[in-house]
Amino acid sequence: MSEMIEVKNPATGELIQKVKAHTEEEITRAIRKGHESFSAWSKTNAHERSRLLRVWSDRIQKNKENIARIMTLESGKPLTESLAEVDYAVSYIDWYAEEAKRLYGRTIPAHTGSKRIIVTRQPVGLVAAITPWNFPAAMMTRKAAPALAAGCTFIVKPAEETPLTTMELVKLAHEAGIPEGVIQYVNGLGPFVGKLFTDSPLIQKISFTGSTEVGKLLMKNSAATVKRISMELGGHAPVIVAEDADLDLAVRQTILSKFRNAGQTCICANRLLVHESIAEAFSQKLADSVRKLKVGNGLNPETDVGPVINKKSFDKIMEQIEDALQKGARVLCGNTYQADREKGYFFVAPTILGQAGLDMKIMQEETFGPVLPILSFKSLEEAVEIANSTPYGLAAYFFTNDYRTGIYLNEHLDFGIIGWNDGAPSAAHAPFGGMKESGIGREGGLEGMEPYLETKYLSIGNL
Ligand code: SIN
Repeated sequence: MSEMIEVKNPATGELIQKVKAHTEEEITRAIRKGHESFSAWSKTNAHERSRLLRVWSDRIQKNKENIARIMTLESGKPLTESLAEVDYAVSYIDWYAEEAKRLYGRTIPAHTGSKRIIVTRQPVGLVAAITPWNFPAAMMTRKAAPALAAGCTFIVKPAEETPLTTMELVKLAHEAGIPEGVIQYVNGLGPFVGKLFTDSPLIQKISFTGSTEVGKLLMKNSAATVKRISMELGGHAPVIVAEDADLDLAVRQTILSKFRNAGQTCICANRLLVHESIAEAFSQKLADSVRKLKVGNGLNPETDVGPVINKKSFDKIMEQIEDALQKGARVLCGNTYQADREKGYFFVAPTILGQAGLDMKIMQEETFGPVLPILSFKSLEEAVEIANSTPYGLAAYFFTNDYRTGIYLNEHLDFGIIGWNDGAPSAAHAPFGGMKESGIGREGGLEGMEPYLETKYLSIGNL
């Protein structure tokens, strides 16, 4: 008998639906089906692949309200954010539907008249994706759209917490006319499905969004079959507020970055570094605005910040706050919570901690919750040194109107995504991804198609 996965509403702890966890045999069958479907799909004309992606995009847009509601129920994020995420998810499909038609090769001038050199691109094969619960729609389409556009077949394992959004998206893809073996989902526990994916010689590529810890394991396990890998892993984003910054703008954008999805994004502000001359004024302004954010069930239209996903997340956040307070941090706002361990819901009030120190866990580890520590700095050099002193390198933000400061910071920060006076840099047409232990490869933009393509070089001789 197969196991069931209970999908629960993180805002109430209530059961939404039970979904079947696929067995080893079913997952192996799905992998085989994806592999067998590759031959026909990779040879389907690129314009036809593009057309089918556009039909998929239309179907999702027509079902936007329903998908957003499912997403809020299973992830807890406010409905407005779920609606925005559906648009964001669709933007990847639209972008790669166009890119499908631009899979150019090139000819290289040969070193002798008797030769011709031609470079072509071809899809890598069957791609397996493992997607996270924090963006159940967009992280799936960010992988599926370039894979399908390139001519790869695709199989996704969504997070156990949020499989319903993915199941809906795959159903709509099939209704749009994309063949069943070309895009599939399987449900199950991460380590079990992940191992079946990494062990299978039929899967050519793994694309993962999630923790650095799991990413490292997938990389290790992918080595035996030399799989191509794309990893979008953890982050620990610094926000530098320079002496000359527009403080109102910095407050608005920091809130946007930090409290979207209750601080459960890989790119969200995690460490606020503020020049000492403005630290007090900025901290007060920020705390005054943060206090106005409404915490609650995402289905309530007034909610700005929903629950955190589960007990494990909640405990980590509590541990970080506790540690910071013990080491001398000061609560500027928040630090209250509403949780019921029995029922299984966990709401954390948006919290700002002043007088943070580098020895605090919250300054060293990713938080994944609505808590932000503030540390003041004396010089830009010091701010950069603190910002870079982490194994992570996903996103960093800074606020300044001085172009010399901006250029200096951009050139010295070791992060893949930089927001300059911008707390929301993500876009389907831009390369998203991290340096150092934040990942390998980029998703979105021109770069996002590359990981799904092989380069083939043809040398024609004897002419
Ligand atoms: C993430 O940080 O987990 C993804 C957020 C985004 O794409 O904006």
